Amino acid sequence: MIAIPVDIPGQASVVVVARGALENLAAILTTHGGSALPRRVLLCFDRNCTVHANQAARVLRAGGVTVTEFGLTATEDAKSASAVEAMWDAALAARLDRGDCFVALGGGLVGDLVGFAAATYLRGVRVVQIPTTLLAMVDAAIGGKTGINRTLPEGGLGKNLVGAFWQPSITIVDANTLRTLGKRELRAGLAECVKHGLIADLALFEDIRRDAEVLANNDESAIDRLLPRAISVKTAIVARDPLERGERAKLNLGHTFGHAIETIPTSTGRLLHGEAVAIGIVAAAAAAKSMQMLSADEEARIANTLENCGLPRMFTGATTANEVIRRMGFDKKNEGGKLRLILPRGLGACEIVENPPDSAVLAGLASIGIR
Ligand code: GLY
Repeated sequence: MIAIPVDIPGQASVVVVARGALENLAAILTTHGGSALPRRVLLCFDRNCTVHANQAARVLRAGGVTVTEFGLTATEDAKSASAVEAMWDAALAARLDRGDCFVALGGGLVGDLVGFAAATYLRGVRVVQIPTTLLAMVDAAIGGKTGINRTLPEGGLGKNLVGAFWQPSITIVDANTLRTLGKRELRAGLAECVKHGLIADLALFEDIRRDAEVLANNDESAIDRLLPRAISVKTAIVARDPLERGERAKLNLGHTFGHAIETIPTSTGRLLHGEAVAIGIVAAAAAAKSMQMLSADEEARIANTLENCGLPRMFTGATTANEVIRRMGFDKKNEGGKLRLILPRGLGACEIVENPPDSAVLAGLASIGIR
């Protein structure tokens, strides 16, 4: 078992990484959860993860906890205020008080939704994050971003527009839950791991480059080597900048391009978030190369690594550079009307670039097939 601290002053948290952690959930909560076992838990879970939720519920009940189970549909449309209200009401019906706790078991969408319900119930109760996707294990379930979607005034879904920073008391990563995750979803999570290597850890990037094919097939020893390192990049950045006043924005590498294409249908259907991020990283690398921040060889290494992880590197939908640039302008990661890109500076470091030249944005888009 590895315990990785998230040293946020006044809101310290921990990420526990252990295969089989669910079977030891009560003991892990007692040892690492920051306080005694709660008397009552609202266990909110993705209905696709019922087998893991049943295991968690059984172990907690054996530890003397009263567990109320609450199944969720993990779709962007269901990431709504009405889902949060339903969780508040379930918590009230189960008589949860401020010493009790919500548990979020599922992917990033469930973690965001349940985290927000916990942040607001009784002005904030503890939340335990139990991510069951690779993407949530290394990124979404760490650092306390919670929230729901809202419909935009001009129509369409605005993602995560209402929310709160609410640090989990503990994040528990049990890689055995990846055995029930589809290969496509697993590979989408590798995009965020590549991102973490590019942001801050060249050795991590090089190891993913070497192991890409086995990682893409859920080789368990390669995944076990990867998890603590990819997680540590995130925990270190969040500890230094929990509210995204500066450095945390680097975790958005690939996301401004990625968000702009994520909802446009492609020739093979809709992209997963991690797939859009992979394509967005390829575009960011090309933009960086056009600004002499990256060599042609480094750019190729990034795109090849993503491809070897089984991820797309080109966008195959019907759109234009103008349309994507318009969408990039709406990204909430921009500030003060300025376009902001996170671009790699060599491998293992990146920079926040305000108002990049049009030529760099166009070079990025051209590299993913958008003109
Ligand atoms: N997923 C990016 C962040 O937590 O800041």
